[in-house]
Amino acid sequence: MYKLSFIGLGPVGLCTAVCFAKKGFTVIGSEMDEAKARQIRSVKPPFYEPNLKELLHEVIKNGNLKIVTSNEAAVMKSDITFITVGTPSNRDGSINLQHVTRASEEIGRALRKKKAAQLIAVKSTVTSGTTLDIVIPTLEKNSGKKCGNGFLLCVNPEFLSEGNAINGTFNPDYIVIGGYNEKSAKPLETLYKDFHGENLPPIVKTNIPTAELIKYVNNTFLATKVSLINTIANICEKTPGADVTKVAEAIGKDHRINPYFLNAGLGWGGSCFPKDLKAFIAYSKKLGYNPTLIQAAYKTNQDQVKFAIQKVKDELKTPKRKRIAILGLAFKPNTDDIREARSLKIVSQLLKQGAAVTAYDPMAISNVKKILKKRIRYASSAVECLKNADCAILVTEWDEFKKLKPEEFTENMRRPILVDGRRIYDPEKFSKKLRYIAVGLGEPLKPQP
Ligand code: UGA
Repeated sequence: MYKLSFIGLGPVGLCTAVCFAKKGFTVIGSEMDEAKARQIRSVKPPFYEPNLKELLHEVIKNGNLKIVTSNEAAVMKSDITFITVGTPSNRDGSINLQHVTRASEEIGRALRKKKAAQLIAVKSTVTSGTTLDIVIPTLEKNSGKKCGNGFLLCVNPEFLSEGNAINGTFNPDYIVIGGYNEKSAKPLETLYKDFHGENLPPIVKTNIPTAELIKYVNNTFLATKVSLINTIANICEKTPGADVTKVAEAIGKDHRINPYFLNAGLGWGGSCFPKDLKAFIAYSKKLGYNPTLIQAAYKTNQDQVKFAIQKVKDELKTPKRKRIAILGLAFKPNTDDIREARSLKIVSQLLKQGAAVTAYDPMAISNVKKILKKRIRYASSAVECLKNADCAILVTEWDEFKKLKPEEFTENMRRPILVDGRRIYDPEKFSKKLRYIAVGLGEPLKPQP
């Protein structure tokens, strides 16, 4: 079995490393942030991900996963090295490659000391051209070796979503291998065959620039699909009797459309869609092409948070001095991640307009506190959050919010007004008991004679 190393232990690096270690591979995870490395070694994952802590405990204890802070040591003791460092945005939205470049330099220097031809697999999300123009030349310069012979190279993007990263690693829909040459692709194919056994998903083999592109296209497609259904939601709201959830339920039955990523709401956030669409737009423009559809998907998403603010204004005239309850802060359920979360945009608008905001989230409060500090109040339960509120906005569709009954709103709020930003409540049931406004829901039809 190949020995593996992962350079960078963010969500992708750590979850993938842990899953390979769970299947019996010898894995070395390299994290240059010493505090973070210590945390991982003592089985305290730096972020929440279902099942991660349990698996991490197991593989640290049985020794299958070792955590180091030196990229050189990681390369020296493994056969395949995955680059899993972050690729944040520059100010203009384009991709920032400083971590990828630094990792490539350090891996290159280690390769110089190695006899065997190491395989380097780029898992970080990088725009087309990055691997051929930056990663390979940097590796070659620092190692004194030639790609394809002295060392091997593949682009091997990941499609993990937060909250499902462990399950997604064990059961991906497909695997992409963009090999520098056949000799490079072969070991990675063998590795995935060993890892997945009889459940091997389809493997798409291609060249390096296409593999890099596939990652962006996958995210762009999904984000655009959500922006499209949000556009339909906005049209539904202006159509008496219309309901976007019924529209989505119906069109999702067309197998060419499918039911996934058709949940209308306040828009997409997280560390990937916003960053990757911006980078893809910047990449495309650099090539001299204006990707108008992708730009529109991005702009639609920016505008979507206005729904919540507008509804508060429609109902209360102004948010000024009104108490607004925010249910949900994480960018989606089952994570404590608040990067690009819609909640932060909504709260900052409300604060600007003079509202008093109280928020509750099952997991993300400590992360939000670091940013908003005492500018809002934090509740320790949904019901406490609703107390004396003039309006509640449901921002993240956590399971525990789905269980709330209309009475919990009517009995605790000063004015029982609910803006359902994720369509989790039954309009019929809720409309009977309180003022219920929801994304993609037109005004009720007048009773037919
Ligand atoms: C996304 C992709 O789904 C992964 O395939 C990809 O690997 C990952 O980005 C990445 O590039 O690393 P993630 O950001 O974790 O994963 O979360 P998603 O489940 O895709 O949700 C993204 C956003 O879209 C969330 O804010 C979610 O609330 C929103 N969304 C999703 C909707 O508003 N409606 C939907 O129907 C689905």
